[in-house]
Amino acid sequence: MQPNDLETQLTALQAEAQAAIAQVTSLDELEQLRLKYLGKKGSLSQVLGGMGRLDASDRPRIGAIANEVKEAVQAGLDQQRTALQAAAIEAQLAAETLDVTMPGVFRPQGRAHPITSTIDQMVDIFVGLGYTVATGPEMETDYYNFGALNFQPDHPARDMQDTLFLPDGNLLRTHTSSVQIRYMEENDPPIRIAIPGRCYRRDTVDATHSAVFHQLEILAVDEGLTFNDLRGTLKVFLEAMFGDIEIRFRPSYFPFTEPSAEVDVRWKGRWLEVMGCGMVDPNVLKAVGYDPEVYTGFAAGLGIERIAMVMHQIDDIRRLYGSDLRFLNQF
Ligand code: DAH
Repeated sequence: MQPNDLETQLTALQAEAQAAIAQVTSLDELEQLRLKYLGKKGSLSQVLGGMGRLDASDRPRIGAIANEVKEAVQAGLDQQRTALQAAAIEAQLAAETLDVTMPGVFRPQGRAHPITSTIDQMVDIFVGLGYTVATGPEMETDYYNFGALNFQPDHPARDMQDTLFLPDGNLLRTHTSSVQIRYMEENDPPIRIAIPGRCYRRDTVDATHSAVFHQLEILAVDEGLTFNDLRGTLKVFLEAMFGDIEIRFRPSYFPFTEPSAEVDVRWKGRWLEVMGCGMVDPNVLKAVGYDPEVYTGFAAGLGIERIAMVMHQIDDIRRLYGSDLRFLNQF
């Protein structure tokens, strides 16, 4: 065999391999090519199989050429592998790129209704004072809404004008005070509770009245509680709500408190009634089985819409129930 034949074959092999390597688009294909040209049974091995038939004097030169071809093909494979790996990373980066300048998907977000946010704000203050939240049913019996709260059977508050009675003789609670009784029946003193909830009255709806409204009730029962504790508690609460304001207590009457008072705050130059309160009447304590010689308590109840309207300068209570987003979106 002529050494030139082998040399030609080797040169042709290198050219073919390098052309093939340049075409490859995946690492798998590249590996196939490596096996095809440089593998044990690959083209290079086959060409070198012809070396045995060369003159001994030609072998070193052809062997050196074969080595060069092998190194050149190997270098071509390495270079292409590096290029393919870099391209794969580039492609992944491009696919995972976040376009932070792209406009977001608009999702309208809900928010707390002003009645809810007012309740939350008030409850937070009482929770800070050590109160826990209690709730009760909106459909009540005469006993929890009136009787146990020391309303006399002929008290005008039970009148059809005020109360929404149900056909079965039950009623829609007219205040959250009913929950005082339910809670005291189930728990022993000391008691500190805040009771938010919906109430109902047969009121004709106008700018300041609604047949459905909300109250927040508070009740504390313990040994040795006095009117001074009531006063201090309400002062702390009202200052937390309204800031540094003037407060006044006016004597009043509620069947379930004795003495009773109404609390006004001075708001934008005029006195504004914000709640009723008083020392729990001994008859109420007796109704739930507490000994009024041992325990005393104080209670208060306030209208949530009233407070929300003052805080947000809302002119008409009906706006709070209108579900008009143009109004609600302001809060
Ligand atoms: N329940 C009363 C009402 O609806 C408000 C009230 C007054 C609650 C005095 C109280 C209180 O707990 O002590 O008008």
